[in-house]
Amino acid sequence: MKQIKHRTLIAPSLLAADLTNLRTEVEKVEDAGADVLHVDVMDGHFVPNLTFGLPVIAAIKKYTGLPIDAHLMITNADAYIDAYAKAGCSWLSVHVEACPHLHRTTQHIRQNGMKAGVAINPGTPLGALDAILDHVDFILVMTVNPGFGGQNFIAGSWERIAELKKKIGDRPVKIEVDGGIKASNAKEAVAAGAEILVVGTGLFGEKDYLATVKKLRGDNG
Ligand code: DX5
Ligand code: ZN
Repeated sequence: MKQIKHRTLIAPSLLAADLTNLRTEVEKVEDAGADVLHVDVMDGHFVPNLTFGLPVIAAIKKYTGLPIDAHLMITNADAYIDAYAKAGCSWLSVHVEACPHLHRTTQHIRQNGMKAGVAINPGTPLGALDAILDHVDFILVMTVNPGFGGQNFIAGSWERIAELKKKIGDRPVKIEVDGGIKASNAKEAVAAGAEILVVGTGLFGEKDYLATVKKLRGDNG
């Protein structure tokens, strides 16, 4: 079957932005050509860290035209799906390790007009996704253990992405990769099958966002 090559989408992770200047940072990555804003929501239970949630997303939504991709690292995601839609999210991902009723959860996300994603930790066997692949828009493959930005990606992650890509086959399910992605390894992530790259310190830690987004996407011009 003929393979259609899609443009790689860049999703800056706001966790690594200068949080005292969030509006400026969002405007800068938007101007630099980012495709979607990745917002890491942590609850201090599912992961050992607390970040931001609904009020911050609602505030960002007022001044960006980019879709917001909320990555819920929380234990009780089901209780908040309607609220995240109302706050302005376009994509919402929940963790396979935290959601015991995944079909109900992804259906609920889609009923709210959002793209439904399922995130998977590096230590969870990919088989945990088999039953849900026909019911999601994207899989968020964690290449670090979630909780913090700035970690090194775990070796073996490219093979894992390639294996997932095979499992997905012809289904219209995209692979988003998250954790330790930088201009220096983006090519390998894309070659393995990732179509959406979440980038925190690999983008906000650089001076020139425009040049870095181009490098991440593999544009040389
Ligand atoms: C980790 C988060 C990531 C993180 C990525 O729990 O899900 O989105 O912020 O940051 P970097 O790109 O710095 O690894
Ligand atoms: Zn994330």
